[in-house]
Amino acid sequence: MSDLPIGVFDSGFGGLTVARSIADNLPNEDLLYLGDTARAPYGTKTLPQVREYALECLDYLVGQGVKALVVACNSASSAVLHDARERYKVPVVEVILPAARRAVQVSKSGELGVICTEATAKSLSYDDALAAVPNVNLTTMPCPLFVEYVEAGITGGPELLDVARGYLLPLREAGIDTLILGCTHYPLLTGVISYVLGDSITLVSSAEECAKEVYAQLTDLGLAHPKPREAARRFLTTGNPEQFAKLGERLLHRELADVRQVKL
Ligand code: DGL
Repeated sequence: MSDLPIGVFDSGFGGLTVARSIADNLPNEDLLYLGDTARAPYGTKTLPQVREYALECLDYLVGQGVKALVVACNSASSAVLHDARERYKVPVVEVILPAARRAVQVSKSGELGVICTEATAKSLSYDDALAAVPNVNLTTMPCPLFVEYVEAGITGGPELLDVARGYLLPLREAGIDTLILGCTHYPLLTGVISYVLGDSITLVSSAEECAKEVYAQLTDLGLAHPKPREAARRFLTTGNPEQFAKLGERLLHRELADVRQVKL
């Protein structure tokens, strides 16, 4: 069982930030990544629609043989949070709870912010994750254009900076001291987000926190690959594989050697 790959799924490129963190934390593990780029973005779609697409992708990964599933997308996690764990025999790691937990730990004032897609905002999944925590106040800001910039490979420039100011300055005025990057595309915009918000607001990446959770679960369940080895990283996309490899490599500064197209 520990020889099987970890299945990682996102609507497009954002989950590569999770895959990168998993590869950093668990270099011996094979990864099988599926980006549903043909149907991205998910964040502007209804939750039932996102749920249908996400379960289709997760079913596909399970059919390929994986030892764990990582829902490396906040929108998809929000849509399938309640049923994915019942549906699959393998452990399912999502992005919402690990990020919410970390934000509570690092915040001094309890004034938290989350930036996310419209689907994640509508699902109230971060509000639910924080509901039982005393003295915490959450301000949610959907940032729908951010995903479009990332998917276009744009991570800087005056136009993005203006958009970022429009989304982020109200959060600073609301007095948050911690901001959850509640979309796995957003770590790729850390530069502009930090530039606009400055040093006094701590950023929590749902991608990094999810990778730590993957490490913890594989270790606790005895599923981690025990020996140093050359791990295989395979990438599947429902879109164009050449485009996926090109943009993925540019965003991650890593070679994506094995990218194939899948039809779901
Ligand atoms: N990366 C995804 C997330 O974490 C969503 C991007 C999208 O497809 O809208 O929410």
